Amino acid sequence: MLMRQQELRKDVGNGVDLGAPDGILIIGLGPFRFDEALVPSGSPFLIVNAEPGKTYRIRVHNVGISTSLNFRIQNHNLLLVETEGSYTVQQNYTNMDIHVGQSFSFLVTMDQNASSDYYIVASPRFVNSSGWDRVTGVAILHYSNSQGPASGPLPDPPNVMDTYFSMNQARSIRWNVSAGAARPNPQGSFRYGQITVTDVYVIVNKPPELINGKWRTTLNGVSDLPPSTPLKLAQQFKISGNNDTTIQNYHLDGYAFFVVGMDFGVWTENSRSTYNKWDGVARCTTQVFPEAWTAILISLDNSGIWNLRAQNLNSWYLGQEVYISVVNPEADSSEIALPENAIYCGLLSSLQKYDFIRKRCRDQAQRVHFSGASSTSYASRTILIMLIMVYATFVG
Ligand SMILES: *[C@@H]1O[C@H](CO)[C@@H](O)[C@H](O)[C@H]1NC(C)=O
Ligand SMILES: *[C@@H]1O[C@H](CO)[C@@H](O)[C@H](O)[C@H]1NC(C)=O
Ligand SMILES: *[C@@H]1O[C@H](CO)[C@@H](O)[C@H](O)[C@H]1NC(C)=O
Ligand SMILES: *[C@@H]1O[C@H](CO)[C@@H](O)[C@H](O)[C@H]1NC(C)=O
Ligand SMILES: *[C@@H]1O[C@H](CO)[C@@H](O)[C@H](O)[C@H]1NC(C)=O
Repeated sequence: MLMRQQELRKDVGNGVDLGAPDGILIIGLGPFRFDEALVPSGSPFLIVNAEPGKTYRIRVHNVGISTSLNFRIQNHNLLLVETEGSYTVQQNYTNMDIHVGQSFSFLVTMDQNASSDYYIVASPRFVNSSGWDRVTGVAILHYSNSQGPASGPLPDPPNVMDTYFSMNQARSIRWNVSAGAARPNPQGSFRYGQITVTDVYVIVNKPPELINGKWRTTLNGVSDLPPSTPLKLAQQFKISGNNDTTIQNYHLDGYAFFVVGMDFGVWTENSRSTYNKWDGVARCTTQVFPEAWTAILISLDNSGIWNLRAQNLNSWYLGQEVYISVVNPEADSSEIALPENAIYCGLLSSLQKYDFIRKRCRDQAQRVHFSGASSTSYASRTILIMLIMVYATFVG
């Protein structure tokens, strides 16, 4: 049965958990039949063809709507080189937790003996119900000299509820301060650790609560965010503790920010002494673990109105987002003027010249949530699907 976004929204609005999806797709394809009891025969799956001895760049992006994934390739190291536009210190991982909306590039060398094909796996993280057992994305890495199909058990994931492992792994990801980058320039004058912090925002993510009979999620203490004064130095956001059991990933439009710290417990002024002020990675999303905090440093130098939101669509739909108005007279001239064909919706609709555009405003208002969700029918029940995209690009 195909479940439409309206029905999903209704469930979410009524406090019903999204539950387990039918599957995890990799480039739109269901799993290789790694387990005959779980995967029906005849389902198409992805095969990544490779030449022995060569190294490939693999870009992995979690474009799902609510679940963190663990990505791994059987018997192969993942040499992390990039995340969200920043070059990283190059380190090998046997697997990587990828939260909703995050992206990573790995260099993978075809250094195995091709006695068989190898599994490429994306399995759900931090889920705690039996419905998830059958939900695993599996593709195939096929060497041109492969001796036969992949068989046997999938490579082990980390303990599924182990947030300590995941946080330690996240902390190990460092910015490569000697590699070139478009912005900001690590070799040049930009040193985020030396910028005076002028504002601190503690943004608390709470579990959903009933407000006027409706389930809503909140980022409390942020309704006063839009500043009327110029902001040109650093601002600092704290995205803080959630005593829920869920992990949340946050995205900020228009910026890369520096992830300088995360830890369990409650953030205090003393937590600042633990910040990484040298090579915290610059990225546009960051996860916040349950009962934990994440600190980011951000230089608000890009004028405009920017959206900070939960990437987990159920939380976002229930209201977990804020808009940040960045006003900077020094840079406002660089802000692009409203285009001629701007669509004036809501309170400004009287400025709108054409009726058909007013109608579009209404349609857009209906569509505004879940618009980023990819949904395809894969098996029987719901159609909520986690998707990973893997782009394999030959590099050497
Ligand atoms: C990563 O692992 C590969 C083997 O898969 C090895 O050749 C390479 O030296 C390792 N790189 C680092 C930085 O550890
Ligand atoms: C940083 O990036 C450069 C260029 O890609 C690379 O050669 C170097 O090994 C990287 N440094 C570290 C510590 O990974
Ligand atoms: C190929 O590698 C696997 C795993 O490392 C090993 O178990 C197997 O014996 C090797 N086969 C050959 C023919 O070298
Ligand atoms: C996982 O589920 C079990 C049984 O439903 C429960 O006892 C346990 O507390 C849950 N663990 C977490 C971390 O949510
Ligand atoms: C939430 O978790 C923090 C950190 O573990 C703890 O100090 C705090 O008392 C908890 N709050 C509630 C309401 O449980």
